[in-house]
Amino acid sequence: TTAGSTLGSTLAFRGLPHGTGPGEAVAEGHEVQLVMRWGDPVLPGAPPFDPARQTGAAQAMQFGYNNDYLDFFPLPRGGEGEHGLLVVNHEYTNPELMFPGLGDARAARGRTSAEQVAVEMMAHGASVVEIRREEGRWAPVAGGALNRRITAETPMRVSGPAAGHARLRTAADPTGTRVLGTLNNCAGGNTPWGTVLIAEENFNLYFGGPGVEAGAQAAAYKRYGLVAEAQFPWGRHVPRFDVASEPNEPNRFGWVVEFDPYDPTSVPVKRSALGRFKHEGCTHAVSADGRVVIYMGDDERFDYVYRFVTARPFDRGDPARNRDLLDEGTLSVARFADDGTLAWLPLVHGEGPLVEANGFHGQGDVVIEARRAADLLGATPMDRPEDVQANPVNGRVYVLLTNNGNRTAARADAANPRANNIHGHVIEIIPPRGEGGVDHAAATARWEPFLMAGRPGADPGASYHRAVGPEAGWLSCPDNCAFDSKGRIWIATDGAPTAAGVADGLYAADTEGEGRALTRRFYAAPQGAEVCGPLIGPGDRTVFLAIQHPGEDRGSRYDAPSTRWPDFEEGMPPRPSVIAIVRKGGGAIGG
Ligand code: FEO
Ligand code: CA
Ligand code: CA
Ligand code: CA
Repeated sequence: TTAGSTLGSTLAFRGLPHGTGPGEAVAEGHEVQLVMRWGDPVLPGAPPFDPARQTGAAQAMQFGYNNDYLDFFPLPRGGEGEHGLLVVNHEYTNPELMFPGLGDARAARGRTSAEQVAVEMMAHGASVVEIRREEGRWAPVAGGALNRRITAETPMRVSGPAAGHARLRTAADPTGTRVLGTLNNCAGGNTPWGTVLIAEENFNLYFGGPGVEAGAQAAAYKRYGLVAEAQFPWGRHVPRFDVASEPNEPNRFGWVVEFDPYDPTSVPVKRSALGRFKHEGCTHAVSADGRVVIYMGDDERFDYVYRFVTARPFDRGDPARNRDLLDEGTLSVARFADDGTLAWLPLVHGEGPLVEANGFHGQGDVVIEARRAADLLGATPMDRPEDVQANPVNGRVYVLLTNNGNRTAARADAANPRANNIHGHVIEIIPPRGEGGVDHAAATARWEPFLMAGRPGADPGASYHRAVGPEAGWLSCPDNCAFDSKGRIWIATDGAPTAAGVADGLYAADTEGEGRALTRRFYAAPQGAEVCGPLIGPGDRTVFLAIQHPGEDRGSRYDAPSTRWPDFEEGMPPRPSVIAIVRKGGGAIGG
């Protein structure tokens, strides 16, 4: 089966049928190229990948685990060719698939040695890798001079209202401004001045011990999901992850981190003005008056959609003036009204409930406890906001709500209308048009549904273009998105196998015209993997995808994984990898 009739869609490929399997699949006429795998060399001197004897020192020079956000920065800067820096987030680790003999995910928890924890810490963070397309094939450039690894130990600076705050000070850093590392970097974004933003998402998973349930910050820990039995019990080997020994360390994570990919010696900066929550991503739009607007989702059931508006316009002529633009501005949270309007509620200390009486002594407290501030303002609890991203062609902002099995009919509203929403949905925010363009900084907007995921005819409320039927084209659990130069949306999914029994994948659809929301399956992931990225390459000729956690299935483990993608070699575990999809014979992806 295929996606059926083209019915006005501008997309020229035939959709893939649904299904799952150990391998991947891509729409006819396209080819998959493997670009970077977990363990591939990034820095000079990186030893060959040897998973059975992996060390922290080796991992620190190699490509990390669980690639998620992807970005591309051209070389030379401003260039339009197929040569540049691939920036990749490494969100988390799967010790059961990384190390022999630990058993499955449940058995492996808490069994990792000090050396294995060191590997995990070095496998987190981000990679910068010079890549180039030659004779049609994308590949890393050997010895790329700007290559970089950022890990859970890379020194970083904190800026903005939380910098130096008492709740950020630790024994190792009495200034509260110097943090070691970044954790759980999921999606991200970039800035118009050429830096990258990587978003710290489920930072709670690394901090545990009995200290979580005691002391003055217990309620604040709870709001962010910290539990005594941490999923990554690194605190057994590295004291700063034990909350009892370092109660403020968790406050130093959950931020958006900015760095300059063109300067491997630059110190990454945690931009605290953008708030502390489980940041999925942080994409930007330049508003009509030149101010930069950063859209962000807090990926948790019943958490919120945020935006940050810079105080000053971005200066195209003088990049140095933009260096600290993200330190000053207004963080707001969205209230989606049932009448299709949206209000952005500012998180400003001293305004409304964000006052001393509620424990907010300054803007530092507001950003550290952004979730509680947003609760008090009456933001709309959403069905797990993942990517929130502006379509540069039609000016609408797409909010990918991945799912929320805990939504009940009593808690349903117009923007989150389905009880037990296991398949998720996509909403469009429509900012007003002002003089000179879209006013992303306006205090209000309108919103509309774009699609309701799930299988049409089988899942109540599933809704797309009328030509998407039960056989093909429908999707489940939208997570990340990208727009091509025609304004078409490319949607990557995470969690579909559990929710719908189909492999996660990449889908494309028009956003305007006859083919609006006529989704079509372009790529199907191997067993256990989610699809991240997606990144449209130069000239729309490539789609880069981050294939994350292949083999993450119940019972799957290093010694008996559910897939050995992408190497399919006995003794080689599955490896999270970045792939490039191009059209055979050249041309734009999707036609
Ligand atoms: Fe890391 Fe919200 O997905
Ligand atoms: Ca992920
Ligand atoms: Ca995600
Ligand atoms: Ca996800």
